[in-house]
Amino acid sequence: MAPTAVNGTGNGTSREHEVLHRAGGTQRSGAAAPEAATAPAGGSAPSSQHPVDLQRAREAIRLALPEPGSKFSQDDEFCVVAQPDGTWGEYRFHDYDRIFGVPGLYEKIFYDVLGCDSPRFMVGLLSEALAAAGEQASALRVLDLGAGNGIMAEELAAVGVEHSVGVDILTEARDAALRDRPGLYADYQVADLTRLSAAQRETLAGHELNALTVVAALGFGDIPPAAFRTAYDLVAPGGWVVLTIKDAFLDATDTSGFGGMIGESIRSGALEVVRRERFQHRLATDSSPLLYEGIVARKRGQLAG
Ligand SMILES: C[S@@+](CC[C@H](N)C(=O)[O-])C[C@H]1O[C@@H](n2cnc3c(N)ncnc32)[C@H](O)[C@@H]1O
Repeated sequence: MAPTAVNGTGNGTSREHEVLHRAGGTQRSGAAAPEAATAPAGGSAPSSQHPVDLQRAREAIRLALPEPGSKFSQDDEFCVVAQPDGTWGEYRFHDYDRIFGVPGLYEKIFYDVLGCDSPRFMVGLLSEALAAAGEQASALRVLDLGAGNGIMAEELAAVGVEHSVGVDILTEARDAALRDRPGLYADYQVADLTRLSAAQRETLAGHELNALTVVAALGFGDIPPAAFRTAYDLVAPGGWVVLTIKDAFLDATDTSGFGGMIGESIRSGALEVVRRERFQHRLATDSSPLLYEGIVARKRGQLAG
């Protein structure tokens, strides 16, 4: 499906944007024509240096969003990307396997065009929480669930974390992390945490994890409550839990299972909230803000449910 118009990105002008924490620190304006080879640099590049060819690949990608008036659920969002043969290929945002297969495409869609900066925002909150608690980032041994192509590992390393373990359900995610951000994860397991093999459980337990990060990966057909619980159980008592979740998933009316499990654990104190911020995770393709809850907590007991 060819786009009839291209949506540059959100310009962050609504009042709501201004009063909320903007995870995407850079604002862009105006519409980009599909002929423009690059979206304006911005979004927020993950903190550290990328291999030069990843940055070049990211800049060279040409993509277009659906016409601004069209609205899609977060499950159905897509863009079209110029292919080497001059045609446009459609990529659903949840087709991570295909997106990770194209170096720079994930960063282009979600960072450059849709203004995501959630990994850096959440690691910033964690860093502040650690400082307030008088703890060192270097003491953390992090399980990064839904690790994707490694952006969280890059942000964690930037604040001094020395041991991160990635887990993702997709082989393509691990391949992309090793390709684009080599050396940042001490280990990266491709695993379904709802069906963890004994060997994988033993491997993960061997990392003596004391922190869990799950950013931009809970719900929406991604990580289910049961997988989150398995990861949580791998973290030592008193460990840190860093997660983002769409605000609606924590509502009393939520039917995903997260509201009961995480919401109830917060209420009972099993999950002791240290920081909780409502923030703009990214823009939707119609430029409306997608608001998430960012939570930094400590594991004080078993999850509810
Ligand atoms: C939007 S990406 C976020 C990646 C990374 N956390 C970041 O912020 O850059 C969501 C990731 O969750 C992964 N994922 C989806 N379902 C999963 C599951 N059941 N178990 C583990 N990972 C899953 C996807 O493969 C994808 O890599």
